Amino acid sequence: MERASFGSKLGIILATAGSAVGLGNIWRFPYLAGENGGAAFILVYLFSVAILGIPCLIAEFVIGRHGASNTARAYSKMANGKAWKWIGYMGVFTGFIITSYYAVVSGWCVKYMFAAGMGDLSGTPEEIKDYFSTFTSDAVSPIYWDVAILLLTFWIICGGVRGGIERMSKAMMPTLFVLLIVVVVAACTLPGAMKGVEFLVVPDFSQVTGGTFLAAMGQAFYSLSIGMGCICTYASYYSRQTNLLTSAVQISLVDTLVAVLAGFMIFPAAFSVGISADSGPSLVFITLPNVFNHAFASMPLLGIVVGVAFYGLLVLAALTSLISLVEVSTVFLAEECKLSRRKAAAIVTAGCIVMGVFCSLSLGAVPSFSLFGMSLFDLFDFTSGQILLPLCGFLTCIFLGWFAPMDIIRDQFTNWGTVSQKFFPVFKFLIRFVSPTAILLVFLRQLGIF
Ligand code: TRP
Repeated sequence: MERASFGSKLGIILATAGSAVGLGNIWRFPYLAGENGGAAFILVYLFSVAILGIPCLIAEFVIGRHGASNTARAYSKMANGKAWKWIGYMGVFTGFIITSYYAVVSGWCVKYMFAAGMGDLSGTPEEIKDYFSTFTSDAVSPIYWDVAILLLTFWIICGGVRGGIERMSKAMMPTLFVLLIVVVVAACTLPGAMKGVEFLVVPDFSQVTGGTFLAAMGQAFYSLSIGMGCICTYASYYSRQTNLLTSAVQISLVDTLVAVLAGFMIFPAAFSVGISADSGPSLVFITLPNVFNHAFASMPLLGIVVGVAFYGLLVLAALTSLISLVEVSTVFLAEECKLSRRKAAAIVTAGCIVMGVFCSLSLGAVPSFSLFGMSLFDLFDFTSGQILLPLCGFLTCIFLGWFAPMDIIRDQFTNWGTVSQKFFPVFKFLIRFVSPTAILLVFLRQLGIF
C-alpha cells in the first residue's frame, strides 16, 4: 500500500507550522520578550532558533522522511535496531501525555470563545477570576469541552493526511493569521497603545543576560514542537523534493512571526489600560479578558468582536497542534497493530479522553488525583515539557550527530545530491556540539540546578 503524503509545498509548511504554532506562542513568548528587553529578546530568540531550533527540526525531518513510517519505527530504521530506537518510543509516549492535558486547555479556549460571544466575560476583575476558577474546577463542564475538541480532532484525522490534516491546515492557518491581524489592529489603535509597541520594538540590551539566552533557547525548543515525534511523523509525509533546510527556515519564521504578532496584540492593549501582562493560563483566561473589558469599555460591540477573534485564534492554534499530537499516536497504533486509521484514531481519542478526565478532575473536583504534591495536570505538564521533551531532543542530537549513518543523513539533507551541500557541514557541527549542549544547559536550568 502506498504511504500517505502531503500534496503541496504550501501544505507541508502550513501543516508543520500548525503543529508548532500553539498556545506557547501566545501565552509565553510575549511575556518572555517583555521581561527580557523587547526587541533585544527577539534577536536573541532568532539566534536560538538558528543554532538550536533549525538543526533539531532538520534532525527530525531526516529521521522521519528516511523512515517513512511512524516515529518509533522511523527511529528503529535509522538505528538499525540498536537501543537508540527507544527514543522513538519515548517520543510517542511523550506525545500521548502532552495530548491529555493540551486537549483540556484547548477545550477551555473553545468554551471561552463562546463565553466571549455571549458577553459572559464582561464582569469585574474578581468576577472574571471567579468565573475561571469555578469553570476549571467544575467536575463536568470542562470535560464536555475537552471531549468536543478531541472529537473534532478525531474527525479531521479520519479525513487522512491530505484530505484531513493538510486541507484543514490550509484553511485554519490563514484564518488564524487574519484573526491575529484583526486583534493587533484593534489593540494598536487604542489610546496610549504606542507605549506598548515601543516596549516591544526598542531593544533594551541591558536586560540581556545569560539567563535570557537560556530562556530563548528553551522557548525555541518548545515552540517548534521538537522532541516528541510530531515533526518526525509529519516529515514522513514529505516528498523527496522537499528541501529540508528551507522548509525548517520557513516553518521557524512562520512560528516566530505569530509569536511576535501575539506580542503586538497583548502589550499595546495592556499598556493602554495600565494592566501588566503575565504569562500562562492566567494571562489568557484572567488578565486579557480584563484588559479587553477596560480597553473597549466605550465600544462594547467591538470588545465582543475582539474577544471572539482572540479566543478563536487560540482555538485554531491549539487545534492544529492537537491534530499533530493525536496523529503521532494514531499512525503508531495503526502501523504497529495493523489497524485502520479510523480505528487507531478512535482508540487514541478514547485514551486521551480518559486521561483528560483525570487531568481535568485533578484541578479541583477531585484533589486526590495528585502525585508528588502536584495535581495530575501539573505533573503531566512538568514531566513532559521539562523532562521528556528535552531528553528526547538531546538524545536525538547525539544519535543523529554521532551514531547514525552519515551518508543517509547527507542524502536526506541534500535530497540525494540534488540541492546544495553548502550548509551540511554547518548542520553537522551544530547537531554534534552546539544543539545538545544548549539543550543540556536549558534542562539543568529548568530543574533549578543552575
Ligand atoms: N509548540 C506548541 C506551542 O507552541 C507546544 C508543543 C510542544 C507542542 N510540543 C508539542 C504542540 C508537540 C504539539 C505537538 O504551544
